[in-house]
Amino acid sequence: MTPAEFKRRRRQLMRMMGPDSIAILPSAPVATRNRDVEYPYRPDSDFYYLTGFPEPEAVAVLIPGRKQAEYVLFCRERDKKKEMWDGARAGQAGACDVYGADDSFPIGDLGDILPRMLEQRERVFYAMGCNADLDRQLGEWVNHLRNESRSGLHGPLEFVALDHYLHDMRLYKSRSEIKAMRTAARISAKAHRRAMQVCRPGMMEYQLEAEITHECARHGARSQAYPAIVGGGGNACVLHYIDNDNELRDGDMVLIDAGCEYDYYASDITRTFPVNGIFSGPQRELYELVLAAQEAAIKKLKPGNHWDDPHQAAVKVITKGLVELGILKGSVPKLIRDKAYNKYYVHRTGHWLGMDVHDVGDYKIDGEWRLLEPGMVMTVEPGLYIPKGTRGVPAKWRNMGIRIEDDLLVTKDGHDVLTKDAPKTVAEIEAVMGG
Ligand code: GLY
Ligand code: MN
Ligand code: MN
Repeated sequence: MTPAEFKRRRRQLMRMMGPDSIAILPSAPVATRNRDVEYPYRPDSDFYYLTGFPEPEAVAVLIPGRKQAEYVLFCRERDKKKEMWDGARAGQAGACDVYGADDSFPIGDLGDILPRMLEQRERVFYAMGCNADLDRQLGEWVNHLRNESRSGLHGPLEFVALDHYLHDMRLYKSRSEIKAMRTAARISAKAHRRAMQVCRPGMMEYQLEAEITHECARHGARSQAYPAIVGGGGNACVLHYIDNDNELRDGDMVLIDAGCEYDYYASDITRTFPVNGIFSGPQRELYELVLAAQEAAIKKLKPGNHWDDPHQAAVKVITKGLVELGILKGSVPKLIRDKAYNKYYVHRTGHWLGMDVHDVGDYKIDGEWRLLEPGMVMTVEPGLYIPKGTRGVPAKWRNMGIRIEDDLLVTKDGHDVLTKDAPKTVAEIEAVMGG
């Protein structure tokens, strides 16, 4: 993302905020692993979306129309000794010269400077409940200003939910965001292909995970957008399985849900394939059903359709298919009304995708499903899950979890499957695994 893009976003937000307002955005805190060891740092997505600033201990302040400086960045000071241990810091000069701030102060001065900025504004745009420390400090500063109001100063009168505005901006992807997401998707597709190529009975699930992360790093994506799920056999029925510590067995399938993050944008792909490279008859029956549901859902992705249309299409195909296989019994419309498919398909068919894997943006507006519009990116990911002990299902279909997940961009004319390079049909998967 270029500095111009971050600037455009700040301007857009400031236009929406209007005069007499101030927005305050902290970055994410550092998480301690143990003692003086930290988890790898990732900035808060809302903060980064507006600033492009990657360091921890930073607070961005936007003050539309303020003469001295509209964009003020509080961040760490330069410190020779600390930089020798932990790497370079932008400091106040870097915040302005490299990251486009109009002014910058040391983060330690926040408590002296920010209250004075609040004093002159009426509306505070802030996401309450995300940062307990800043919530508390802000409360104290505002209370103090209220008490001072008798001496002629007036403090802010109104708090506005910043996330509401920002998340709607984030829902519509710009050209450069789509470019980053295409890259993330392409790299993850390569990783899934590689996992298929190297998978053998007897491997550990985490070894397959290592192939995924290795292939992503080889192509420029060092982080995953979420912990990879690699579940053999019945482990695939645990929706957020991340133990990944079992052996992959001949005759089982394995479900891999993994996607890299590229330039702070996520991809999210699931593929399910036989550990030994050849689908058995029963595996194929269930797999083809999930694939048909996914294809039906994907067809519904176009401007003017609403958010729930793909899910309803998937549910219809899955219910009909389960009746044909004899796993569900009864009339299809009634089974759909009763949500009988819920026993085997508990989750929804997708979610927004962007800087976060489960990205921001409302799914309903005034109680109605949101209409799809060009620039929105989402996943389509139906599944079927039949754990070992499931009653009423013939043994040949038990111990199987299947999900097929792609990332899609809504376009003017319909959609674009960003993850199309990941093998998906039975024929493609068997060819990749055999070849
Ligand atoms: N990887 C989480 C999801 O598919 O939603
Ligand atoms: Mn996923
Ligand atoms: Mn997903």
